[in-house]
Amino acid sequence: METILVTGGAGFIGSNFIKHILQEHPDSYIVNLDLLTYAGNLENLKEIENNENYTFIKGDIRDRELVDNIFSEFRIKKVVHFAAESHVDRSIEDPEIFLSTNILGTQVLLDAAKKHWKINPDDKYCDEYIDNVKYLQVSTDEVYGALGKEGKFSEDLPLLPNSPYSASKASADLIVRAYHKTFGLPINITRCSNNYGPYQFPEKLIPLMIINCIKDKELPVYGDGMQIRDWLHVKDHCSAIETVLYKGRIGEIYNIGGNNEKANIEIVQLIISTLGKSNNLIKYVKDRPGHDRRYAIDNTKITTELGWKPSYTFEQGMKETIEWYLNNTEWINNIISNDYMKYYEKMYSGI
Ligand code: NAD
Ligand code: TYD
Repeated sequence: METILVTGGAGFIGSNFIKHILQEHPDSYIVNLDLLTYAGNLENLKEIENNENYTFIKGDIRDRELVDNIFSEFRIKKVVHFAAESHVDRSIEDPEIFLSTNILGTQVLLDAAKKHWKINPDDKYCDEYIDNVKYLQVSTDEVYGALGKEGKFSEDLPLLPNSPYSASKASADLIVRAYHKTFGLPINITRCSNNYGPYQFPEKLIPLMIINCIKDKELPVYGDGMQIRDWLHVKDHCSAIETVLYKGRIGEIYNIGGNNEKANIEIVQLIISTLGKSNNLIKYVKDRPGHDRRYAIDNTKITTELGWKPSYTFEQGMKETIEWYLNNTEWINNIISNDYMKYYEKMYSGI
């Protein structure tokens, strides 16, 4: 049985990924290391918490001793690194934790992998690592910066991050690359576009708008609302990461996207009409500083080389997502903690 260390598995994408792997690879054992910050929630994992192939460890990826012990005790063969501070607005308010968790935390994991996997630099391009050990860094298309009206992000573009969040993710990507080039660590980096789906913390656009709309609260649209994101259902993201984990060529970067470019205002209007509410809920607010205008992923590499393709249409994915939030009011009410409400009220006190 092969043991996979999943970091940040109590968050939005990590929790969906753990459930996906336990279902698709019943011969795998998963160790979930998560600090349970405001974004981590064990309720996301309720249906598998007693699975005999799963262990949860509450802890910090920056804790070297803990990470070292996990590698020894569980004989970790693969790492899928999701744990991060993930929200751009929070990184603008207070960048420090982003640099600490996203950059230094990544280095701790890389050091443990390098030590425990006894990587030999002479073997650095050896393909037999594919079925053996692998470190997979879950990154973001935001490391490429912003696009104008034309073009898409391909893997060979320079990294030009604009927010403290994306700068911290780009820094981590470069360190992962350096551990591959210098020490021969078998790695992949995946860079995906904006995710949506069940269990997303309601500070991100889609869950925030759905929940506010259900509760007849104002819908804060930044600037003119014409910024474009390329949306990917979280379950498609999970299947793409699985594909890269088992089939990705060592040392390669794979962009992941579902070809669903939408302006923010289109999404807000779709949510309003699906829920039968009024456009009067829309409130245009001050724009985000350094706001990236457009993201779009060129997914040619992962689709042609590894045969992955998304299964959700945006319409079906949004319909299911809105229904999920309508059917999970207890999850919503538990998550809207005092901590979250304080942050939320501070953010939108001007509207
Ligand atoms: P999330 O904020 O929902 O979850 C992050 C998880 O990491 C939480 O469970 C949190 O408790 C945990 N965590 C934070 N600091 C930690 C630490 N020091 N030690 C251990 N655990 C810690 O994030 P998400 O949306 O699920 O994103 C997961 C990953 O995917 C991140 O690396 C993010 O950069 C990347 N990503 C996300 C999106 C998106 O649209 N959500 C898009 C592209 C890339
Ligand atoms: P977000 O979900 O924070 O993801 P990211 O910034 O990583 O792309 O935001 C998605 C888009 O929605 C982005 O252009 C900012 C915008 N937005 C709003 O207009 N209002 C909001 O309340 C939020 C949270 C985001």
